[in-house]
Amino acid sequence: MGAPREIDDSNVQPIPIDEFLSLPIVIVVTYLRMPSGRFILIAKAGQPTAETSLEKYRAKNLESLFVHIDDYHRFLVTQTQATQQLIETGSRFKNDTRTALIQDAMTTVYREIEEVGFSDSSFSRAKLVNHALLNYVKENDQITDLITKFGMASNDGIVHSMMVSMISVMIGMKHEWVKPSTLEKLSLGGFLHDIGKSKLPAEILAKPLSVLTRDEKIIYESHVEIGVQLLSQAKTMPDDILLMVLEHHERSDGSGFPKRLKDLHISPLARVVSLANAFVDRIQQEAKPLTPEDALKVFQEFRVHRGAQFNRDALNALEKSLDPSKALKKKTRVG
Ligand SMILES: [Fe+2]
Repeated sequence: MGAPREIDDSNVQPIPIDEFLSLPIVIVVTYLRMPSGRFILIAKAGQPTAETSLEKYRAKNLESLFVHIDDYHRFLVTQTQATQQLIETGSRFKNDTRTALIQDAMTTVYREIEEVGFSDSSFSRAKLVNHALLNYVKENDQITDLITKFGMASNDGIVHSMMVSMISVMIGMKHEWVKPSTLEKLSLGGFLHDIGKSKLPAEILAKPLSVLTRDEKIIYESHVEIGVQLLSQAKTMPDDILLMVLEHHERSDGSGFPKRLKDLHISPLARVVSLANAFVDRIQQEAKPLTPEDALKVFQEFRVHRGAQFNRDALNALEKSLDPSKALKKKTRVG
């Protein structure tokens, strides 16, 4: 027990008490909120959990304890490592839950990509790569559990991820990256890029980025490092995949995060996932269904207003994978 500290609601993050109890030691300084609203320091970093009074607080039906907002990122990353151990020791989701989430996403993604007007040859090949990806995911319990948790934390998360994965593959093909292993890596990296979001508070994920406070933005941005942390503990995860996860918000003009890398310093596969991710975000802002003509317009606006943020070859490859004849056909039918 420590002395009262002068902190308030604006600089603490509430954390369910059970999340502390699953850890062998206290990761960061932890506070209790008194009925008066005052915060009391109850555990220091490094203290064994069993020696603290956390159990006592839970017995009193206390729902949350608090950590300082500056410590929250460290708490998330370390707690993620402990969660991974839980995954390794069991706690599997039932097969029907896994299959249902992925199957539903696939149906939606194929329909949406079809509507947007990607060229038939690109789309067919991307579907083949996607089927190989899904077989890999289904056979890998660690990855499947992470994806299932991610899907449960964010309803549209799996749809978004699969769409980014497939569009990354189509961009890769128009880059003339012909090696199957390269396309498979793009597919997996695209699919897992946001996996770190499974550890973020739902209230932050629910808000548009433009309204996040400075502290919320720091937490949001930590999803790239958390994703690497989660995946680097899965056996045999290639470094290329970890780089795609870490760098998928980097921008060629240096305006991205976490390291503000410029174009040539971003790994080649991450440049593609960065573009695919931003393009999917952009088209998903539009009213649905998006016609091939709309998609081309959206792409041109995207190139004009945000072109400097992305690798030029990747932008050209994305443009090539959109089939203008589909927009023309649509126009002819309507006209
Ligand atoms: Fe992201």
